[in-house]
Amino acid sequence: MTEPVTVGTLLEGEHQWIDGRFGQFLQALNAGSVNAEPLDEAAHVLHRHIFLEEEILFPELEARGVVGPTAVMVQEHGQICDFLERIAMLIRDGAPPDRIQQVFDALRSLLEEHNAKEEQVLYPAADHLLNSAELLRRMQGADPPHGWLCRAHRGETG
Ligand SMILES: [Fe+2]
Ligand SMILES: [Fe+2]
Repeated sequence: MTEPVTVGTLLEGEHQWIDGRFGQFLQALNAGSVNAEPLDEAAHVLHRHIFLEEEILFPELEARGVVGPTAVMVQEHGQICDFLERIAMLIRDGAPPDRIQQVFDALRSLLEEHNAKEEQVLYPAADHLLNSAELLRRMQGADPPHGWLCRAHRGETG
């Protein structure tokens, strides 16, 4: 028997996985080296995670009147994507680890707050209001189309 899983537990597990990779990146930074691999892996999974939220989960919540919280999350996704782009650019430009760490720290504190709000408010609402099995089926194997941008970067606010 596999563990029963809900949309909330699936997405929360992704937060933890991403955080683990970011932790590896930070560990290397603290030791004075830039190890782009765990960062790239985290950024890739986070991009897809935001896609699942914005294209599959949020529309279902919004259709049930949960619009304020998703608008805040969408705005924060835009900021998260900005940070990821800035960090990638700094790495490409060969910036020193302490400069990269300044931006990375800002990203992580935003993510910490963002994930806490999702885990405490949005995901429980989703698990309560929505059909998890159906949503999990739709999320399985769903991938952002090439060049997909989060709503904020498309100029959509909610
Ligand atoms: Fe999110
Ligand atoms: Fe999330």
